[in-house]
Amino acid sequence: MNPATVNTGPSTDDRAAGGGAPFLDVRDLSVRFSTEDGPVQAVDGLSFSLERGRTLGIVGESGSGKSVTSLAVLGLHDRARTRVGGSIRLDGVELVGADEARLRGLRGSRMAMVFQDALTALSPYYSVGDQIAETYRRHTRCSRRAAGERAVQMLALVGIPSPQTRAKDYPHQFSGGMRQRVMIAMALCCDPDLLIADEPTTALDVTVQAQILELLAEVQQQFHTSIVLITHDLGVIAGIADDVLVMYAGRSVEHGSVTQVLAEPRHPYTRGLLESVPRLDSAVDVPLKPVPGSPPSLLAVPGGCAFHPRCQSRAQLPDDLCGRLRPELVAEGGHAVACHLSAADPLATPESNDTRRNQGTTP
Ligand SMILES: Nc1ncnc2c1ncn2[C@@H]1O[C@H](COP(=O)(O)OP(=O)(O)O)[C@@H](O)[C@H]1O
Ligand SMILES: [Mg+2]
Repeated sequence: MNPATVNTGPSTDDRAAGGGAPFLDVRDLSVRFSTEDGPVQAVDGLSFSLERGRTLGIVGESGSGKSVTSLAVLGLHDRARTRVGGSIRLDGVELVGADEARLRGLRGSRMAMVFQDALTALSPYYSVGDQIAETYRRHTRCSRRAAGERAVQMLALVGIPSPQTRAKDYPHQFSGGMRQRVMIAMALCCDPDLLIADEPTTALDVTVQAQILELLAEVQQQFHTSIVLITHDLGVIAGIADDVLVMYAGRSVEHGSVTQVLAEPRHPYTRGLLESVPRLDSAVDVPLKPVPGSPPSLLAVPGGCAFHPRCQSRAQLPDDLCGRLRPELVAEGGHAVACHLSAADPLATPESNDTRRNQGTTP
């Protein structure tokens, strides 16, 4: 396949100069489903990149396109109903349009996923040891015995006590947190370079959540794994991510280093998300405020800025600018935001905005 035929977005050449290509490079990704109610553009013009050994947090409310993005990276969308455009390069290899056999080979061995719900992701009919061993054997074709040993070794790595004995147990015999550890063990058994963790701690209580995040950080230190951590909770990524991308209605609305986005959020949506999570670093109890309203249906995304019907700041701009014109993602010092309020001259024409537009959008 010629990657040029599928790379419809800004090419990696448009990025600001700086070293070689990143390990994971997503450019102008779009994912569209055909449904009975019409086309659903679940991801639109999304770009981000990730270096080896680093963590990118992708944050947004339910329905913002986070899982659709991760499934696109892994090539797991149903091809008959889904149109994936743009470019996803893993270590220089184009994944958009790659054939299924190639993607299957890469899944597990080079990239792996931890899902939110370990109970549905694991089979109830096989012991966890057998499931990890089977995954390992599929990629390495080693002996059953070696695969069984690998499974026990992986269970030990993720902190399951008595791994030799527990390998023989079935998923329902584990607590939620321990099951999530089993999922991580399975994802890591073939030493993937990229781990996508999609809401890995959402179903867990706060203490177990912290343990799982700590485990991911340890694994990353040891194996130099690149991690995409997906969550609806900005609080979760504070301690673990290097960079953060905030998604709204399938698009990136803010993107930067964790310090930039959490300490100096520029998009009203990011600020709203921050006010809706408890601050662990705050001595005083600041009352939590959920973002008012709810995310739009992707069958009827509002014109202009998709967030404008919920935005408390839009009145600051004249002539319903936010309702009329979609703000472009503009970066300054690696901190990108798509908001008219942040633009130096919000009333500039889209053409003049173009010259300032960040094409890489990557911090
Ligand atoms: N297979 C599909 N067919 C049609 N619409 C889908 C499909 N998968 C996801 N969507 C829609 O895409 C949007 C984004 O979904 P998703 O990525 O799962 O959100 P989240 O950010 O909560 O992970 C949702 O509106 C969802 O309904
Ligand atoms: Mg999801």
